[in-house]
Amino acid sequence: MRRRDIHSSWTTTLSILSLLSIAPAPSSSFYLPGIAPVSYRSGDKVPLHVNHLTPSQSQRDNQVRSVFSFDYYYNAFHFCQPEGGAQYISESLGSILFGDRIQTAPFDLHMAKNETCKSLCKPQVFEPRDAKFVNRRIWQNYNINWLVDGLPAGQLVLDPNTDTKFYSPGFMLGSLKDEQAILNNHYKIYIDYHKANEEQYRVVGILVEPSSNKDSRYVEEGKAECGDPSNSVPVILSEKANTEVLWTYDVYWRPSATSFATRWDNYLHVFDPKIHWLSLINSAVIVTFLIGMVTTILVRTLRKDIARYNRLDQFGLDDLSGASMDDGVQEDSGWKLVHGDVFRPPKYPLILAVLVGNGAQLLVMTGFTIAFALLGFLSPSNRGSLATVMVLLYILFGFVGGYSSSRVYKSFHGDAWKQLFALTPVALPAIVFATFFLLNLFVWARASSGAVPFTTMLVVVLIWFLISVPLSIAGSWLGFRTTEPPTPTKTNQIPRQVPPAQGWLRPAPSMLLAGVLPFGAIFVELYFIMNSIWFSKVYYMFGFLFICYGLMIMTSAAVTVIMIYFLLCAENYRWQWRSFVTSGASAGYVFASAMLYWMRTMSFTSWTSGVLYLGYSALISGLFFVLNGTIGFLASWIFVRKIYGSLKID
Ligand SMILES: *[C@@H]1O[C@H](CO)[C@@H](O)[C@H](O)[C@H]1NC(C)=O
Repeated sequence: MRRRDIHSSWTTTLSILSLLSIAPAPSSSFYLPGIAPVSYRSGDKVPLHVNHLTPSQSQRDNQVRSVFSFDYYYNAFHFCQPEGGAQYISESLGSILFGDRIQTAPFDLHMAKNETCKSLCKPQVFEPRDAKFVNRRIWQNYNINWLVDGLPAGQLVLDPNTDTKFYSPGFMLGSLKDEQAILNNHYKIYIDYHKANEEQYRVVGILVEPSSNKDSRYVEEGKAECGDPSNSVPVILSEKANTEVLWTYDVYWRPSATSFATRWDNYLHVFDPKIHWLSLINSAVIVTFLIGMVTTILVRTLRKDIARYNRLDQFGLDDLSGASMDDGVQEDSGWKLVHGDVFRPPKYPLILAVLVGNGAQLLVMTGFTIAFALLGFLSPSNRGSLATVMVLLYILFGFVGGYSSSRVYKSFHGDAWKQLFALTPVALPAIVFATFFLLNLFVWARASSGAVPFTTMLVVVLIWFLISVPLSIAGSWLGFRTTEPPTPTKTNQIPRQVPPAQGWLRPAPSMLLAGVLPFGAIFVELYFIMNSIWFSKVYYMFGFLFICYGLMIMTSAAVTVIMIYFLLCAENYRWQWRSFVTSGASAGYVFASAMLYWMRTMSFTSWTSGVLYLGYSALISGLFFVLNGTIGFLASWIFVRKIYGSLKID
């Protein structure tokens, strides 16, 4: 087993234990984890940690050319290692799952002490093979990611939309000039520090200006001769002969008025604040319209219908399809005709129940994660906390999943209870995990550091079986023991013939129509989330996301209810699967938007990047299908029970 694997499994286990423990941290209990300020005295050594190298958007055409990340100490890069080798810094589970590999580095930085032209180690020799590798990474716009005191080292970027400057994490490995790759071997590190008092200096911002300088000479350990950097010759790695490169850096400490508490504000930049508001207003209007429509159906149409139906019923006119009916009633009374079939269990009740259970679990997990983030529990300095919380909440909400699936299954009068108990916690996670594992094989094959270590995966599976499966079974058991309230109408012995569907009520058009609205509620936020996944930009607009999530739930529920109402009016009583897939159809739009995003911002140079992108997009869309389908199903379930509950039959 490799060293990293062992190390990661340990830190994973530890981080889980620390996350699960509720014991408050003794000294810094006022601060949330990860935000307790670290203070240095003037001249104290400040550690600089290195993270993986990640692909970024090209400055010229805004394209991303790869999705793989590389370990900082991947041999071909020839970055200097600290004496005795680099050490891994312990990370949270989510941080590892999302690809962070943080290690120590040989930088020698002292608080508030400016230093110039320091060497990192003796000159390194790039053989043609390594030169080729590095040149290719430069061409693919790889970024170097450093961390000083939990803050990412970035570049100052001007947003032309709002004309504001902000710190964008990561800086360029090299640059391109006339299609020639130039390697940056010199770093100007600007560290902003805030002086709380004479004894407490705090790091509040890091900028790095990388440059290329072929003329630097090694003097001795930690010292170099940089010459005149303003007219230096750039370093170009030859792909035919060996090239010698010396890594050097300057460090400048700049006093800053930014306090420790607000130091992330420079990094969290809203690119286009207007677009968030516009999308929010847009979806709010759609939701209001849809909810108005549902209310109209429920209040006006139904009440009128029900009153008339109940009146007619008193006169003994059971057979509503009979010739004695006046046309007005027959026209809009379709849904009442199927009262004897509407609670007939659907086909494949087991699969539907398992899907709804898992969807409910996802729904609650997502809601709670966004709420936690919104309340500021997941600070960006606590790396990977979002992912960690997501995984843990998903595991804990296994209970909700089990309960929902068995309640739904009970209403379908299912009898394969053993299968239900077993499939609910295992089926969907197994599919997700298998996909994840397969995609990881590609990453391993590329020797990229983005691969999740095997032991981390093992740990996740272990927690899954030890915590989530028992919770889910407990939930299922509780659902199984609950007595199901009787259905409002009795189900006939003989199923009624379903008339052939017409027009937009056919499955495909109805899915296309209904799916677009929930998607409309979230697509702007989805775009920013994709940016944060693929370009490692910090996403933090959880307020917007929370509202959008709520709007999406309402839209899905309302649009599915309307669809099901029209379906029932057309005397089609097979609403269960229909409501699930109609609402879930938004996932098709999510997938399509991911493909559009690919066409617009990605130009992969290897097919493995494409496979990875496609795989993850499909996985996310699949989960979204289950989540949104569940919303549609549950809303329709309530709706159907409600409208048939108000009918008086016999
Ligand atoms: C260090 O360099 C920065 C940037 O050039 C400058 O603002 C600061 O005053 C310098 N500090 C000292 C102690 O010379």
